Amino acid sequence: MADVSKITVLGAGNIGGSLAQRLAEADVAHEVVLIDIIDGLPQGKALDIQESAPILGFSTRISGTTDLAAIRGSEIVIETAGIARKPGMSRSDLLGVNAKIIRTHAEAVKAHAPNSVVLVVSNPVDVMTHYFQDVSGQPAGRVFGESGTLDTARFRWFVAEALGVAPRDVTGFVLGTHGDTMVPILSLTSVSGVPLSRLLPAERLNAIVERTKKGGAEIVNLLKSGSAYYAPSASQAELVAAVARNEHRLLPITARLHGEFGEKEVTIGVPAVLGRNGVERIVEVEITPSERAAFADSVKAVRADLRVLAELP
Ligand code: 2OP
Repeated sequence: MADVSKITVLGAGNIGGSLAQRLAEADVAHEVVLIDIIDGLPQGKALDIQESAPILGFSTRISGTTDLAAIRGSEIVIETAGIARKPGMSRSDLLGVNAKIIRTHAEAVKAHAPNSVVLVVSNPVDVMTHYFQDVSGQPAGRVFGESGTLDTARFRWFVAEALGVAPRDVTGFVLGTHGDTMVPILSLTSVSGVPLSRLLPAERLNAIVERTKKGGAEIVNLLKSGSAYYAPSASQAELVAAVARNEHRLLPITARLHGEFGEKEVTIGVPAVLGRNGVERIVEVEITPSERAAFADSVKAVRADLRVLAELP
């Protein structure tokens, strides 16, 4: 049985399309609506996904449209729209273009689904999540972003590969911004409870940390056009399920801080509990002094992008 009645995915690109497919296959909603500005794209992807239902056995109804008013009545909205990076670009380079799209969509959510929970994934995600919430006017906890679950998945995979263990047995947190100054928290990473520092030497751990920080760029450079979408959509589907099913999952997500970790008026990756109303609480875990210093650098990077956003025409 579906957990919510309606979910809208904004943007029918690689991420939006593959997320809609994952959500349909998880049967998490009665209805998934895919919205895009390019006529035919959301309708075509929706129909293609819908036609897999007889084989896969899901009951979700999936439709596509260019009409933003179709957001109406959504309990969960996922913002995937915007342009993706090309090789050599940072996520911050997308700020100006993507902010315009985010504004239009946040206004539509304000008009048509003000009580929805919104997951923002468009880049630069920390700043776009902050901006979405400013424009939509929803309570801060109802607008959160994806970054940590994706960066942590990459980190977990690299650790699992290095150790030859099952990926799901590796747990941990990558906090801070979804950018070059993200902070893989080694002190909170373990393999089935065994601290990572007892399993891998420091130089191998450092190499994994560096690869994680450049995890998105590694895929952009391989694809040459467009960015990753299989791992991102898997992480987004996990976050949506946590909300739809009121799972109270403790996950690394992008949330607006109100004094937690000593910071205010900034939106960045932190551990938080996610339930039916979005972010239930931010969990201020103890991290080491060097991790704290790296987190402070990450906050500075997001604040710099927020200043760029504030100065946009
Ligand atoms: C990534 O890291 C798209 O930002 C996303 O792959």
